Amino acid sequence: MTTSETADTAPDHDPAVIEALLEAAVTRLRTVGALRSEEVERAVRAVPRHAFAPEFPLEEVYDPRAVLITRRAEGGGATSSVSAIWVQTLMLERARLEPGMRVLEVGGGGYNAALIAEVVGPTGTVVSMDIDPVVTERARGFLARTGHSDRVEAVVGDAEHGHPAGAPFDRIIVTVAATDLPPAWTGQLVDGGRLVLPLGVRGHQRITVFTKQGGDLLVGETGNHAGFVPMQGAGAPAPRMVPVTGAVELVTDADPVPAPKALPGVFALSAHQVRSGVRIGGMEPFSTLQMWMTGLSGFGLLTGTAEDFVHRPMVPNAIPAVWDGATLAYLLLPKVPDPAEAYEYVACGHGPRAEETAAALAEHVRVWDREHRNGPGPRFLAHPDLPGADGVIRTRHTRLLALWDRTEHDHALDWKADTRE
Ligand SMILES: C[S@@+](CC[C@H](N)C(=O)[O-])C[C@H]1O[C@@H](n2cnc3c(N)ncnc32)[C@H](O)[C@@H]1O
Repeated sequence: MTTSETADTAPDHDPAVIEALLEAAVTRLRTVGALRSEEVERAVRAVPRHAFAPEFPLEEVYDPRAVLITRRAEGGGATSSVSAIWVQTLMLERARLEPGMRVLEVGGGGYNAALIAEVVGPTGTVVSMDIDPVVTERARGFLARTGHSDRVEAVVGDAEHGHPAGAPFDRIIVTVAATDLPPAWTGQLVDGGRLVLPLGVRGHQRITVFTKQGGDLLVGETGNHAGFVPMQGAGAPAPRMVPVTGAVELVTDADPVPAPKALPGVFALSAHQVRSGVRIGGMEPFSTLQMWMTGLSGFGLLTGTAEDFVHRPMVPNAIPAVWDGATLAYLLLPKVPDPAEAYEYVACGHGPRAEETAAALAEHVRVWDREHRNGPGPRFLAHPDLPGADGVIRTRHTRLLALWDRTEHDHALDWKADTRE
């Protein structure tokens, strides 16, 4: 791994410049709904964010949408960052922290842990855990400099095991992408405690808040789309890649996966297209459609760009698709002539069951349009022993059931925030 330039001594900054940038950030966060309470606002004003990212220019540090990448793997992928302020404040608001609480932060760096420490106050406890000793060491230095080291314990550890020595926790706030709910998290949370995390469900990551209902049952509310760095260690995701053709692969965690020889060559078979009749404007968000599609059995995401396909897919590289034996269907989003800025979802199937699979996919889009299009997305039930039924997503540690009959909108922003954290 490599670390981007690490500054041991913070540069001298003009306090008036910091004040102006902070003021602008707070106003923006309030406007978009990422900052709502006096307590979190006070924390944002109290903790000098620039002290946790001394190698970045102030304008970037206080840009509410900027992710400050602090560490990369040899291949260049980001492995650690100071997350964007909008997502940090949103998660803290949704955690509903109170003075005196015991909090575990998974994924360290220091800044977010200092914010938590400010909200839970001197009677609270914060443990900030990171799998990377370099990140932990750096965080310890920053926390000492800002006067938070006696209120935040920065430890090295793998999220998979939680932090038994500090349990039970009133809140667990995970700041790294999770695709599963390890038993340690549920076990180390008090009844009624809240687990806030960027939960990736079949490739779609959303800020989700689970409340422990007793025993191992968690009930979760989904919220904004997010893009945190991937989990390392024992809980690192291991999606299966099934070759289709050239650069196109089907990435799926479905169980069972398609046989390796089932899909190659499928695009050479003639395509069958089914129009859904569902239109969408150029700037309209469709993230609830993506989440809605994850409930289909045989769901996966196709890699590749328009040039790799016979018919142009709706988006590049994370193209929602379903497979059924040797048949593959995915969505296209061609422009319609009238009105000028509208597009229509069209299901495109290849393979022996192209017609039925494409028709089922188009119908799935119609149901989304009728029932969920303007809704907040699903609520989740998570329990390791949930009976396997249609729509239940199996992960290594648990079973997730998406319930779509939500009416209330819990803390979604008016921002389409899809920057990587
Ligand atoms: C987005 S950064 C955390 C941001 C941070 N909380 C802040 O103050 O902005 C994600 C961190 O998670 C850490 N991480 C990745 N996998 C982990 C694991 N299994 N256990 C603990 N930490 C992990 C990475 O090393 C990285 O530092």
